[in-house]
Order: sequence, then C-alpha cells, then structure tokens
Amino acid sequence: MNELPPLEIPFNRFTPMGRELDYIRETMGIGQIAGGQTFSQRSQRWFEQNLGVERALLTTSCTHALEMAALLLGLGPNDEVIVPAYTFVSTASAFALRGARIVFADVRPDTFNLDESVLPSLITPRTKAIVPVHYAGVACEMTAMLELAKRHGITVVEDNAHGLFGKYRGRWLGTLGQLAAHSFHETKNITCGEGGALFINDASFRERAEIIRDKGTKRARYFRGQVDKYTWVDLGSSYVMSDVLAAFLFGQLEGWLTIQEKRGAIWARYNDSLGAWAAALGARLPVVPAHCESAWHMFYLLMPDLATRTAFIEHLRARGILAVFHYQPLHLSDYGRRYGRKAGECPVAESASDRLVRLPLFNGLTPGLQAKVIDATLAFRR
Ligand SMILES: Cc1ncc(COP(=O)(O)O)c(C=O)c1O
Repeated sequence: MNELPPLEIPFNRFTPMGRELDYIRETMGIGQIAGGQTFSQRSQRWFEQNLGVERALLTTSCTHALEMAALLLGLGPNDEVIVPAYTFVSTASAFALRGARIVFADVRPDTFNLDESVLPSLITPRTKAIVPVHYAGVACEMTAMLELAKRHGITVVEDNAHGLFGKYRGRWLGTLGQLAAHSFHETKNITCGEGGALFINDASFRERAEIIRDKGTKRARYFRGQVDKYTWVDLGSSYVMSDVLAAFLFGQLEGWLTIQEKRGAIWARYNDSLGAWAAALGARLPVVPAHCESAWHMFYLLMPDLATRTAFIEHLRARGILAVFHYQPLHLSDYGRRYGRKAGECPVAESASDRLVRLPLFNGLTPGLQAKVIDATLAFRR
C-alpha cells in the first residue's frame, strides 16, 4: 500500500471566534462553574430572544436532549416512534432506551430528509412521536408532517443537530416541532466541544423539562427561590451543561452571523464550482428547495455508485484532503435489525449510505484551502 501524504485539509477543524476563553475566565471570576448559572442563562436567553423559542435548556449533548424528549413524552414499550433510516444512532437510541419500538422511515431522494409521503403507511394507534432530522441543515417538509401529526395526536420532536439557523418557509428550524434537540458537538456550526440544547416550543412541557434535566428534582426552582426545598418528584437524569461550557458556547453564539456567512460562502463556492464536473461524472450536488434556507451545515456530493465514491475519497486523500462518507442505514445496523425492517425496504437511505460523500466545510476553511479542495475535486475522472 502506498504511503499517504500528511493531511493538509481535514474534514473538520474547530475555529475559535475569539472570546471563548474570556468568558470562561469571567465565569471562574464569578465563581460559577456548575450548570444553570450566569452563562447558561445568557445562552438560553439568547436562543429565546433571537429565535423566538418558548424555552431553551442547555444540555450535555443532543443525544441527551433527545433522551429528555423521550422522558417528557413518557414513552414505554407500548409506544412507537418514527425516525428516518438515514440518520445518526442517537435519533433512534434515545427513544429505544425507554423501550419504545423504533419504526424506520425511508428518506426523500432529493434532500435525504424523512419522506413525509411514507408517514401515513407507518402511523398506527401506538405512534407517539415523529423525529424529523433536517439533514445537512435543509428543512424537512414540515407543513405536511405537522398537519399529519396534529391529526393523529402525535408529538413532533425535531432532531435539529444540523439545522440551527436554517429556516422552513421563513420559520427557524428548531421552533416547528413541540420539542427540538440541538448539538454543539465539535463538528457543528456552533460548538462547545460536546453539548446540546432542548428547545421547548409547547409550554405544557416547560416545568417537567427542567425537572427531568435536574435528576428528577425541582432543584432549579429551589435555586431561583421558587420552592423552599427540593426532592425526588419525577424520572430524570443529569443533563445540565456546565457553565464553563456555556461560557465557551456564548463566545461562539455571539459570532453566529459571521459563522453563518462564512459557511454560506463556502457552500456557494462549492456549488458554483462543481456543477458541470458533477453532471459529467453522473454525480449530483445538494438540493435546497426554494422555500428552505439552509443552515449551511454540510456540503455533499451524491456519487453514481459506491466504487466511484471510494475512488474519489482515495483521490482526495492522496492529495492531503479528507472527505468522508456519512451514516450507515440504521435499520440494517446490528441493533436496528431487531425492529424488523430488511435490506431493500428503505432503498433511498441504503443508496445514500453507499454514494454520499461530504467535502471539508468548517468555519476556518479559507478560500485558499477551499480552492485546493475544488481543484483536486475537478481533477477526479472515472
Ligand atoms: C442527526 C444527529 N442527531 C444527533 C446527533 C448527536 O449529537 P451529540 O453528539 O450532540 O449527542 C448527531 C451527531 O452528529 C446527529 O448528526
């Protein structure tokens, strides 16, 4: 095997916005490093005021925000939850943890979002939740999904790990479902290393969400002086983000517009440069429907087949550039198989899993480095 050159352009690299350490020092100076304090409140208020969220709660991860949603809905073994077959493990595992039955839906061939047209055939009297993922930061068809869910009394929990700052018909992603889970993992547009948030858009969940996040107690209300003691009142766990991370997060959040503008420009440069090359190869670029504003989370190519994708990834890697594929179909995973769907039953998810490849896109990707990725991509032929 030929030795690979050093990696010049990674798939992702964290880029500081500049104030993260100042804010961490400030939180240390205030003497508050546990959760729920000055910087957590500042960050939560930022989401509430800027995005119009009823209540935002910072959590230790998106996975944990999804687990909180499962607890809030009181899910158990008699309940079913519909999730896309093409997604990260947590979209399903957070609900499987409560014993709920996972029902995998195929995704749309244009956006790779949960295909709303298959939902009527998957809904049963046991369906309690639908969990749309706005893949790559492009919205699912929420009008149809929300209407269907409302008619059947089903809760919509957005897994908005990719979609923060994207919009659907002019509305922020993360404000459309009754609940919405967010990720601030290192790979996301806004990050604090590991972290997340649960947006509560239905006020009836507000009080219990805080209790579930704080070990099943009213500790948060106690610290606000709203109750004179706290004890065990509900199921819960320890999902509160530390203020050290919240301070870091706030440093990123303040720069959100700069981050989004940078990512949007990177996305547009890829899109403008690669269309003719992709068409000649039989590949295609991402689709953003006219009524969606992307969150610019990711830029991907859909290759004609697995062999071409493998050759393309090797071609870039030989030039010091890391491009990566994405999800394995969840219904065909070792654990996912227990829910009974077989190979061929979610054909779009299975095909995307073989053919999709993501190009480097991170806040610090300079035009010069991106030009190298584009040139190397254009040099790929089959
Ligand atoms: C769609 C989706 N949901 C959930 C997660 C989990 O996020 P976290 O690492 O914050 O738990 C990810 C992670 O990348 C994801 O892509």
